[in-house]
Amino acid sequence: MSLSGKNILLGVTGGIAAYKAANLTRLLVKEGASVKVVMTPAAKQFVAPLTFATLSQNPVLTEFFNPENGDWHSHVKLGLWADAMIVAPATANTIAKMANGIADNLLTTTYLSMRGKVFVAPAMDLDMYAHPATQRNIETLKATGNIIIDAEAGELASGLSGKGRMAEPETIVGALANYFESDQPLKGRTVLVTAGPTYEKIDPVRFIGNYSSGKMGFALAEAAADAGASVILVSGPVNLATANPKIKRINVESAQQMFEACTANFANCDAAIMAAAVADYRPANIAGQKIKKSDAQMTVTLESTPDIAATLGKAKRSGQVLVGFALETENGLANAAEKLQKKNLDFIVFNNANEAGAGFCCDTNRVTIIKNDGQQIDYQKKDKHAVARDIIAQLVPLLNNKQQ
Ligand code: C5P
Repeated sequence: MSLSGKNILLGVTGGIAAYKAANLTRLLVKEGASVKVVMTPAAKQFVAPLTFATLSQNPVLTEFFNPENGDWHSHVKLGLWADAMIVAPATANTIAKMANGIADNLLTTTYLSMRGKVFVAPAMDLDMYAHPATQRNIETLKATGNIIIDAEAGELASGLSGKGRMAEPETIVGALANYFESDQPLKGRTVLVTAGPTYEKIDPVRFIGNYSSGKMGFALAEAAADAGASVILVSGPVNLATANPKIKRINVESAQQMFEACTANFANCDAAIMAAAVADYRPANIAGQKIKKSDAQMTVTLESTPDIAATLGKAKRSGQVLVGFALETENGLANAAEKLQKKNLDFIVFNNANEAGAGFCCDTNRVTIIKNDGQQIDYQKKDKHAVARDIIAQLVPLLNNKQQ
């Protein structure tokens, strides 16, 4: 069980069980999560923010802005940062607000901005918990995709005994870990990804290259790692960093070096995604010294580089999946479909180099996936990370079917 590398947003509301949220923070950190805590104004009456700030090693957020310096606490950024949010304890009041979309404090506003899964651990007196209004609100939260970590029966702060105690912090951490575990369809798989351009040397100071930024390939590496895969990222020269421990990065410069890195690793991989913009030609001879300027015309003789995707397509075993990209400026879909066949790919991701917001350097892309059974899927223009998740979503069932 581990939450290693996960960003968890803990929302604490004003109930006596807030004291248990301190232990929950400690356990989340112990499991490797980065934790940020957002408290409702009422929660501060139960446990001081300093406790959560110390245990989470992050400032605690309670207001929309810092009254001393006016710093804006962006609920949108928090919502994007978090892989999951857990509201624990969740009072009847906060549950009612969440179920009805009321955004009157930083916690409830952040809830509406959350992209990741939201977990809710109710805690209240037994009659409040059993009340039809609360039960209806809990059902609404479930129906809208939230995960309820049911309250437990036992002694309550009121002195009464019944169902309403917040689940123990260990149970909550277990529910989060299970969720992330089951959200890992590529767990145990190894995925090779190529990214970026290649540089083909003309002489010691010049090269033939292209405008590929590497962003699509890096987003694919991240998405595959997030889905649980071990990733081998073979990258041409790019200005991008990788910190994910599940991504092993091999830096190369030329098509030949990329070819060698890929052919050395492919046999141990379950899938390969060829997102690199590999040079098709390279200078036949690399000058040993810087070529001197002269008045005469100059000709550089080019020779073909090895086609990495086609080579892997020939070597592909029955259980392996191979994905290619086609960046085209004309006859796009027809050219892409031809490459799919020629390189023995399982599917090809087509993007149009002439389209604004698609292709090489920008942060977005608009792609069409063409599968080797002829199926074609058109996607909207999206952030490259979202495009990468779409591509991984197509890869997973193919891998699973091949294994059978
Ligand atoms: O033939 P074309 O270069 O358009 O094919 C594009 C696809 O083939 C991409 O997936 C690219 O990464 C891959 N490719 C390759 N090795 C080459 C040329 C292209 O792996 N030498």
